[in-house]
Amino acid sequence: MSDKGLAVVTGAGSGIGRAIARRLAEDGFAVAATDVNEAAAKETAADIISRGGRAEAFVLDVTDRGSIERALEQALARFGELKVWVSNAGVSTMNHFIDLTEEEWDFNLNVNAKGVFLCGQVAARQFIRQGNGGKIIHTASLAGKRGAVPFLAHYVASKFAVVGLTQAMAYELAKHRITVNAVCPGYVATPMQERELAWEAKLRETTPDKVVELMLGETPLRRLETPEDVARVVSFLASEDADFITGESIAVNGGVYMD
Ligand SMILES: NC(=O)c1ccc[n+]([C@@H]2O[C@H](COP(=O)([O-])OP(=O)(O)OC[C@H]3O[C@@H](n4cnc5c(N)ncnc54)[C@H](O)[C@@H]3O)[C@@H](O)[C@H]2O)c1
Repeated sequence: MSDKGLAVVTGAGSGIGRAIARRLAEDGFAVAATDVNEAAAKETAADIISRGGRAEAFVLDVTDRGSIERALEQALARFGELKVWVSNAGVSTMNHFIDLTEEEWDFNLNVNAKGVFLCGQVAARQFIRQGNGGKIIHTASLAGKRGAVPFLAHYVASKFAVVGLTQAMAYELAKHRITVNAVCPGYVATPMQERELAWEAKLRETTPDKVVELMLGETPLRRLETPEDVARVVSFLASEDADFITGESIAVNGGVYMD
């Protein structure tokens, strides 16, 4: 297996992050599978190793700078130079805008927006110390480009922040040969989606199956998205083929929203 250096993935214990970690390991990166949930991160690392890849699990809470710095330090000691940082961790809750609580707002904005800021700063400082450029990739969302999604005003605000930050970071970090891009998934079958289906069904007074029908009805390619659909695009953004792309937030959504 080729040695492309270290790739750190946040939120790698589940769903999209796990698929990204697996794919980057297949691409030849040594993967730091990080998550606030240590057991889940360990499962991902074990899965990669069982497929012949290189990985280790690290606890990393994206809302805690000290935790991010510690995980990076340990990953560097284990695998050497940082090449790719994927800020993927995210959370959601659902509510009508008029019923949204400050707790929901803070939870979503802290993990989804502040987490991307903190991780981006720690990663960028490391890339600058190394002096060889680097790649930062964010998992934003369809909800980072379109506000017309149900019951997710706070989440929408957090993901628009990610898309904005992607451009601002790309602009400032370009002189260090650091590229910053994002992927914007649509309706991806993950544990987050399972939770959202139950919440949305309750808020709409319908069933989770009917909510899936609504999602499929909005999707020209007529199926739910898989975590691997997202991971393939992250793999491209992490590769040399994407060397001259920066500041982009790429829609990966089966055509739900085209821009
Ligand atoms: N599932 C979708 O339909 C969808 C669509 C668009 C965007 N996204 C985004 O994709 C990313 C991954 O979502 P998913 O569907 O795989 O969700 P998921 O809930 O399956 O996985 C998220 C992972 O992030 C971890 N996490 C949560 N808070 C954390 C923190 N503070 N620090 C570190 N890790 C933390 C969780 O432990 C979990 O392992 C998120 O940013 C999400 O907003 C998901």
